[in-house]
Amino acid sequence: MHYGGDYNPEQWPEEVWREDVELMQRAGVTMVSLGIFSWSRIQPAEGEFDFEWLDTVIDLLHEGGIAVDLATATASPPAWAIESYPDMLPRDADGTLFGPGSRQHYAPTSPDYRRLASALVTAIAERYATHPAIVMWHVNNEYGCHLNYDYSDNARDAFRVWLEKKYGTIDALNRAWGTDFWSQRYTSFRQILPPRKAPYSLNPGGMLDFKRFTSDALLECYLMERDIIRAAGATQPITTNFMGAFAPADYFSWAPHLDLITDDNYPDPNDPESFRASAFARDLMRSLKPGVPWMLMEQSTNALNWRPTNAPKAPGQMAALSAQAIGRGADGILFFQWRQSRRGSEKFHSAMVPQAGLETRTWREVTELGAQLKRLPELPREGQDARAALVFDWHNWWAVSNTDHPVAIDYLELVQRWYAAFHRLDVPVDLVRPTDDLSAYDLVVAPELYLITDEGAANLTTFAERGGTLFVTAFSDMVDGDDAFREGGFLVSLRRALGVWLEESGALVPPTRVVGATSAGETASAVGAAGPGQSSATVRTPAGDLRGEFFAEEIHPTTAEVLGEFTDGRTAGMPAFTRNAVGEGRGYYLATIPDAAGTNALAQWLVSELALDPVLPGLPERVEAARRGDLVTVVNHDSAPASVAIRGVDVLTGEPVDGVELGAYGYRFVSVQEES
Ligand code: GLA
Repeated sequence: MHYGGDYNPEQWPEEVWREDVELMQRAGVTMVSLGIFSWSRIQPAEGEFDFEWLDTVIDLLHEGGIAVDLATATASPPAWAIESYPDMLPRDADGTLFGPGSRQHYAPTSPDYRRLASALVTAIAERYATHPAIVMWHVNNEYGCHLNYDYSDNARDAFRVWLEKKYGTIDALNRAWGTDFWSQRYTSFRQILPPRKAPYSLNPGGMLDFKRFTSDALLECYLMERDIIRAAGATQPITTNFMGAFAPADYFSWAPHLDLITDDNYPDPNDPESFRASAFARDLMRSLKPGVPWMLMEQSTNALNWRPTNAPKAPGQMAALSAQAIGRGADGILFFQWRQSRRGSEKFHSAMVPQAGLETRTWREVTELGAQLKRLPELPREGQDARAALVFDWHNWWAVSNTDHPVAIDYLELVQRWYAAFHRLDVPVDLVRPTDDLSAYDLVVAPELYLITDEGAANLTTFAERGGTLFVTAFSDMVDGDDAFREGGFLVSLRRALGVWLEESGALVPPTRVVGATSAGETASAVGAAGPGQSSATVRTPAGDLRGEFFAEEIHPTTAEVLGEFTDGRTAGMPAFTRNAVGEGRGYYLATIPDAAGTNALAQWLVSELALDPVLPGLPERVEAARRGDLVTVVNHDSAPASVAIRGVDVLTGEPVDGVELGAYGYRFVSVQEES
């Protein structure tokens, strides 16, 4: 179990480094992520390296027993690099240049950026590959953050190469994108541009491929650095820090290339429900590399600086969120950052060593948690043993976010709504792609699976045929992997599994949402409809009457039986909820998007139908329990105390447990071995 944070010693004089090591020991720090933004200090000019200061820092840390997660420092190119190679700067869709002076100001596809980054990583890796302090490598930082998409000429050139590799011929691309629409036909890959600003909607197939390309281009940067580190003889695990469900990078396709997954997570203390979105991010990380513990690479000790308003965490909340991460598979709790900056954009961001000093709640909580984690025994590698899975697919996310759909909808929010429903019931779920091995599950829920490949559809159908329960909601199975309609209408590839066809999507006026800053920790809340027209539809179901949003679809069963109808609006009396027998299993289809209360009711109904066990029964509303092999972690995300019925052994104290009283933001790690 590692404990620590980002360490930026270049912001401090050498005397402070010594004090840092001493304080790290007091705080129970075992590892720091070093040098993430040190490029300009390590390399003051092209071809010139200054490692002396870094040698000193690494040696000091090593002597003090603090391990190093050494960064490659490539996320913020120095001023000299921009001066010499201004062409490495990225551009937005309007063609506006992103200037330097902040960070992430590079086009990931720029040959100059890649050459300079390679030279830097080579120098760092060759110098430190075998240094005994280095236990892990931290490649770049939060790939794609701030600069989600780059539309520069470098991106243009690389996009063309990527497309040529994917399609082989320009005719194949024309077919896939349907370029006979609006005279968009290309006669050469040289004519293709990134989806820059245009008078009106861009080609959806092109938009989708550009997102795929961007994820791959960022991954290429990661692989380039990883290979350099390995070639230098490093044997430590190599990783880069993820950001929960982050749209520009398909972490499922990245995961096999990382030795372990690491994640950054900043739930908003102003949002009382953000602990559920945070649990979602942790289960996503766990699902990316099953059986391999991940690390919480960054969280804040207290307040942030980057939201419109930055509330402090409640007393104990930082430790509660740390316990949540451990319960859901983390083997490391780290922070941004070790010592609060005195200058720069992040000076108001909390840290392990606060600007206000050591007589502070933050420092007390940091040292208490550090001491506690030291007492944790080695934790099981097993996952939650979930019998339910929730489909979360980046390609679908990208496609469904394109314009010109019956109604715009936030896919991530829907998936998180389903996740939250199971989280409330304390029933474990894994996050999966449609093509993943589903044999371990009894239930697979696929909300709004607009884009589905033939392989994905076949896999979901086989899952149902073999006895699984597949539950699909509106606006699913609309297009193939190219974002094109299939021959034969809608709901074609899942027809065997679901036994319904769709005549009309029946868009409703969407509810307006209040959405804060974008982060995995954010949840949106409905505050009414966005305009005149029908904004919801009621559906009678075995789980009760539900309110549907976004769509009231006109569907027709082929082989499915109707379990519930719409009871109001345009589709009153028409089928809304169906069940289809397929092989040993069944496929449910719901012709609308249930609101949060409806989603909760359906999740409850599915859980009882399939007798899915919660980790612990009857937990209070804001208490969660997560299973990790025979370790059960219970966390109270509330300031009011809560009692939990659980028997086992407290792994921190070795004391037997028969029921626990959790104070405000209290938690316990309980081994339930003898119970099973
Ligand atoms: C990100 C970055 C860090 C820091 C934090 C602030 O996660 O990786 O460098 O800027 O945000 O919350």
